[in-house]
Amino acid sequence: MKKLLLITTATLLLSLGTLWAQITNTATIDATKIDQKINRLIYSQFSEHLGNCIYDGMWVGENSTIPNKNGIRTDVMEALKKIQVPSMRWPGGCFADEYHWMDGIGPKADRPKMINTNWGGVTEDNSFGTHEFMELCSQIGCEPYISGNLGSGTVQEMSQWVEYLNSDNESPMTTLRKANGREKSWGVKYWGVGNESWGCGGRMKPQYYSDQALHYSNFLRSYGSNRLNMIAVGPNGDDYNWTDVVMKELGSNFWGLSLHYYTWMTGSSATDFKEDGWFEVMKKTSLMEEIVSKHSAIMDKYDPAKNIALVVDEWGTWYQVEPGTNPGFLFQQNSLRDALVAGINLNIFQNHADRVKMAAIAQVVNVLQSMILTKGDKMLLTPTYHVFDMYKVHQDAYLVPSTLECDKYSYGGDSVPSLSLSGSIDKTGKMHISVCNLHATETKMLTCHLKGYKPSKGSGQIVTANSLNAYNSFEKPDALGLQPFSAFKINNGQLVIEMPPHSVVTIELEGELETYDNSIQLKNPVPGLNYELFDGSFTNLTEFINMKPSETGLTSQIDFPIGKKTMNVGLNFEGYIKIEHTGMYNFYLSSDDGSNLVIDGKTIIENDGRHAVIEREGLIFLHKGFHPIKVGFFQAGGGYMLRLEMEELKSGKREVPSEKNFWHEKQ
Ligand code: AHR
Repeated sequence: MKKLLLITTATLLLSLGTLWAQITNTATIDATKIDQKINRLIYSQFSEHLGNCIYDGMWVGENSTIPNKNGIRTDVMEALKKIQVPSMRWPGGCFADEYHWMDGIGPKADRPKMINTNWGGVTEDNSFGTHEFMELCSQIGCEPYISGNLGSGTVQEMSQWVEYLNSDNESPMTTLRKANGREKSWGVKYWGVGNESWGCGGRMKPQYYSDQALHYSNFLRSYGSNRLNMIAVGPNGDDYNWTDVVMKELGSNFWGLSLHYYTWMTGSSATDFKEDGWFEVMKKTSLMEEIVSKHSAIMDKYDPAKNIALVVDEWGTWYQVEPGTNPGFLFQQNSLRDALVAGINLNIFQNHADRVKMAAIAQVVNVLQSMILTKGDKMLLTPTYHVFDMYKVHQDAYLVPSTLECDKYSYGGDSVPSLSLSGSIDKTGKMHISVCNLHATETKMLTCHLKGYKPSKGSGQIVTANSLNAYNSFEKPDALGLQPFSAFKINNGQLVIEMPPHSVVTIELEGELETYDNSIQLKNPVPGLNYELFDGSFTNLTEFINMKPSETGLTSQIDFPIGKKTMNVGLNFEGYIKIEHTGMYNFYLSSDDGSNLVIDGKTIIENDGRHAVIEREGLIFLHKGFHPIKVGFFQAGGGYMLRLEMEELKSGKREVPSEKNFWHEKQ
């Protein structure tokens, strides 16, 4: 008996050893190639006047017995704060193109009622309107993202809404806002010019929509120092022609172009499925990679500097509604399968951080792939919520580019990559690697080769369950949540992970960026930058490349030389930037009009063209010492502005201190 036990243990150890040795899946995670920040707005949420998303889900009214602050549920707000929701899209969706914002302001008793024709034909009493939404955003601490009504509204109505929200001047709109109890403007930054204009938002063709959007956008003003970032209606899934036409016509007038792609499973249940249902969802979700890549490639044609964001502002699973619920309310349960959908999509968005700057899952509470479900005074957190919680470490962290070679998950004659991965380094220097194992039944061994980063220790978290369709119910709200995870090893700069089937994992590594010296030696450095000034009214930076400057000199800062502020001019600054500490640096360049920043011969920021103040950012690794720097700029009528700021990985954003940073070589 003893002998048998010994043999069994030996066999077990041997097979575990063989398993570790038989690693077929490899990822290279390269910290020497960091050049993108993961915009935290990728973690945004979408809320619509649909079913119980707003009413009962978040808004219960001041007189409710459910604990609330100013009518907004305290439990739901606390949960949303925990996952650091960066922005909230509202009021729709299809609802947005039938919504008249003036119906939702002023005394509640006077607010007209309407029929929510899109969603269940229920009566909308407009008790939740602009002021309530802004209160909700302020309780969460997130940016509001408002979708304006282009489908059935007017240019005047939309432009007045922006004025009501954002102006501090004296006007009928600001007087009305003050009369409704809000003295100061809110400064809304993100603005959708319509929603799904190819469908419920007006059944438009791309050319017609582009004309409409240009017309509307012309009257949507930026007030004070707040810049209104407009988001144009983008394609439905793989409608590449829509992207092509809209990008061509709208181009740089817009901050972003939206994309809607759902994991569409309307014929099947959210929880009652077998492996075929699991596989289908993995397959449809993985398609997001191709869709994002192809739309990005089309956008590159018109915007090679990648200044226009792809905004995936509706994504997630869409199943049959829960039995016995209103089909128009889109209420569905959320299982482990949805956790995988969240992980896969977030990995895709992060890996496309150069183009995908914002995304919003549909929808935050009680609708489609929600974070939270409510029933009366009860609330539960879904598996999707736990993935958002686990992934929040990636918000505003620096994307570590990765490549992944993995085997396939094959089922019923079809296949998908079995793993999905993304990684980032945060401001404290910690690396986070998130991996999904899509396979329903097989454990996957994954070796991650870490380049440019030396890990010293790590910890992990996992979302998984024994069954594919495990979910949290009101009876068992904690059946599935975040668990500690330790099935990984750090070995000689490599990370080996044993990924359980159907799981989402995040590993946190503590360690050091391995540095390399990319600074240059100067023989005789003296403070100050060379500048060249060109007279003329330019439309872009290339127009004065071959011109003779009308003035040259030395300056201690990146700004206009005194006395030239009103002129139409081009300017080039050139010299060296002195870096005190080796590390990652994020630069911010704000200008009105065009500008660019080149460091170490690499264009870090492209902010060209005639425009009002626009801030753009770019990342670079800099070793302590001197680095060649060039800043181009032109001013062409109207407002004037030029500012360069930088942020070290471990410290905050600050203006580049001229005397310390800017140098040139004495001839
Ligand atoms: O999220 C539900 C609906 O899906 C939205 O209202 C619409 O934009 C999309 O078709």
